[in-house]
Amino acid sequence: MTRVLSCIQPTGAVHLGNLLGALRNWVDGQHDKDVFHGIVDLHALTVTTEPDVVGPATTELAAILFAIGLDPEVATVFVQSHVPEHSQLGWIMECTVSFGELSRMTQFKDKSARREADFVSAGLFTYPALQAADIVLYDANEVPVGDDQRQHIEITRDIAIRFNNRFGDTLVVPEAVTPKAGARVMDLQDPTSKMSKSGETDAGCVFLLDPPEVIDKKFRRAVTDSENEVRYDTVAKPGVSNLLDILSASSGTDRDTLAGQYSQYGPLKADTAAAVIELLQPVQARHQELMADPGELARLLAVGADRARSVASATLERVHRAIGLLPR
Ligand code: AMP
Ligand code: TRP
Repeated sequence: MTRVLSCIQPTGAVHLGNLLGALRNWVDGQHDKDVFHGIVDLHALTVTTEPDVVGPATTELAAILFAIGLDPEVATVFVQSHVPEHSQLGWIMECTVSFGELSRMTQFKDKSARREADFVSAGLFTYPALQAADIVLYDANEVPVGDDQRQHIEITRDIAIRFNNRFGDTLVVPEAVTPKAGARVMDLQDPTSKMSKSGETDAGCVFLLDPPEVIDKKFRRAVTDSENEVRYDTVAKPGVSNLLDILSASSGTDRDTLAGQYSQYGPLKADTAAAVIELLQPVQARHQELMADPGELARLLAVGADRARSVASATLERVHRAIGLLPR
């Protein structure tokens, strides 16, 4: 069966864009392929400088992944640092990629430029080697990623091919696949920008754990336009179109049908808020249950870590043997 790997960093609160654009596809796809989902806490360390931040964020994200419907019996959900083979293979991947190749990564150039006055860790630079380890450890055939991550999958392929050329056929060369198109959710206050946790204010971003009254308020204050016509047109009417997209993704009704049902913005906003609240209600309830039962959450993550480790340790063993490291 095709093996698929997706990873997400535990940095900041999960929002509606993450859910409708990506996470929902994880849940829908879990029965079609052999899926591994890593919460990549070691990647978050590239920009972490304080204690007790990454752990709680990891717990919260794990609870969300189970709450939205990832089934631990079917999908392998694990925390990267619970599987030490990631760091171990990461080093070997660093020795298989060149300084020049890493220097060409646009994400490194962007991130280091934005952190000009900040600490730029060496990890930020070597990050793609750890990402390559994440992928090849699981013999992943497919890695669903957005455009911003394509270059990292390309470099993973280059690293795997180089390793195989040097040491013999050992690693599966993965392919980047375009995830099934999810909704692209825009910021409620600035509907020409993607909804993001790093947006100007929280007012434009609906977090998965926002209480119903906060969600309602955010939608009622959503920026629209000065016309008075509900119509889907992302260029002329980005705010209204975003509401229609969100309502459609939350309710399952197509956006053109929905557009025909409204003549005013007020009811469209209210119904979109109600649909999102209804969509999130069971997720929030399950999340709360899991957060109240740390033992159960730890058990679920241990199941994932054990399954991940059994694959990862076999790969690392194969790599050591291919290189010809002295066995202990
Ligand atoms: P990020 O936390 O920005 O790295 O995003 C994690 C995942 O959520 C990625 O796969 C993104 O494609 C997806 N995503 C993030 N923001 C949005 C958005 N506003 N609309 C749709 N998908 C999004
Ligand atoms: N670099 C990815 C991001 O910033 C996260 C990530 C780490 C990843 N390891 C991965 C994604 C392996 C896919 C496969 O979003």
